[in-house]
Amino acid sequence: MIVGVPREIFPGERRVALVPAVIPNLAKAGLEVVLEAAAGLDAGYPDAEYVNKGAKVVADRAEVFRTADIVLQVLCYGSNDSTGQADLPLLRKGQALIGFLRPLGDIQTGQAIAATGATSFSVELMPRITRAQNMDALSSMSTIAGYKAVVIAADALPRIFPMLTTAAGTITPSRVLVIGAGVAGLQAIATARRLGAVVSAYDLRPAVKEQVQSLGGRFVELAIEATDAQDAGGYAKAQDEAFYQKQRELLGRVVAESDVVITTAVVPGKKSPVLVTKEMVAAMAHGSVIVDLAAERGGNCELTRTGEKVVEHGVTIFGAINVASTVPYHASQMYSKNLTNFLLHMVKDGKLQLNLEDEITRSTMVTQGGEIVNSRVREFYNLPALQLQSKEASS
Ligand SMILES: NC(=O)c1ccc[n+]([C@@H]2O[C@H](COP(=O)([O-])OP(=O)(O)OC[C@H]3O[C@@H](n4cnc5c(N)ncnc54)[C@H](O)[C@@H]3O)[C@@H](O)[C@H]2O)c1
Repeated sequence: MIVGVPREIFPGERRVALVPAVIPNLAKAGLEVVLEAAAGLDAGYPDAEYVNKGAKVVADRAEVFRTADIVLQVLCYGSNDSTGQADLPLLRKGQALIGFLRPLGDIQTGQAIAATGATSFSVELMPRITRAQNMDALSSMSTIAGYKAVVIAADALPRIFPMLTTAAGTITPSRVLVIGAGVAGLQAIATARRLGAVVSAYDLRPAVKEQVQSLGGRFVELAIEATDAQDAGGYAKAQDEAFYQKQRELLGRVVAESDVVITTAVVPGKKSPVLVTKEMVAAMAHGSVIVDLAAERGGNCELTRTGEKVVEHGVTIFGAINVASTVPYHASQMYSKNLTNFLLHMVKDGKLQLNLEDEITRSTMVTQGGEIVNSRVREFYNLPALQLQSKEASS
């Protein structure tokens, strides 16, 4: 079977779906790699490194799609809403497509992929079970984004992070507040601590308190309790507006005392809750910085502009999107490892064996045979449930 890796075409995207190091592992499982020329270049992986590891490099993008049984991308149509449509005519019936599909973004993109007849898999839908941990691309990208958010903040802040006692006097450490202590938030806490900041963090899931503390952060306790804070997968559940209103009131003081606020509070498939209002921004010290990692889905800060950097009331607000792409070398390395583990899980005897009784395959498969087959996606869009068609379907 041939695995095709096209160059990413989302504007500014620098990652690549496979790095050269994983190619021998795929070869052992009977998978050959065909790469579009220069696909890895922006991430720091030149074509020659792929060739050295046994991949074939071709100049023509359409040829990659034509020869591939399995297409691996970072941002597929769906998550690439600006240029991704160009790939649709290149997909074909029975071909497998794996990548970020943003399956709960809008139904039309899912239907358009279904209409090609391709069997598509969304890495966002990877179940949060132990055996899928090494396939969890969302966690990998969140790790990178959490790290980079702190670097962005440190660069923009007119202060340094650590405490210094020098002959020129004592410098007090910067105070960093992280709202949302999931994968990205925890990495942000760890990174800010390494730089010497005093870090506090808040999450509506009380379960994360110990994790925050173990990284040297102070857990902010608010006199408010979320009902049913998390679902079975460990994701936060949406709360009602009265809860968010109360949260904002209580968070106000903590935000005002912080030099940097990093927000990561997202709820899958929903608009991000606004937790930092314009009044809260106005109460921050001049020169403070907010990095809003929830910007892609509206943002946690009322003044966030998606994809832009704005300065309001003297506070710099980064509506950061696609942050992992700005650290393309390691983001690609992690993503590539996740995809390889996922592929090797589904490939048996050199063939893709799609066992729908397997939770990993069933949860991630979005389209097959011209239809959206994923039960979570169907439920989300109020489509009638489908019967599980076959136990063993090979693509
Ligand atoms: N395989 C696994 O078992 C596995 C894999 C990845 C993550 N996880 C766990 O799942 C959890 C969530 O991970 P994630 O980073 O992907 O989550 P996420 O990106 O969906 O959300 C980020 C954080 O924002 C928080 N949040 C949402 N609404 C909020 C609000 N109103 N106020 C404050 N915080 C709010 C969430 O609780 C979460 O911690 C983590 O505990 C993580 O460790 C488990």
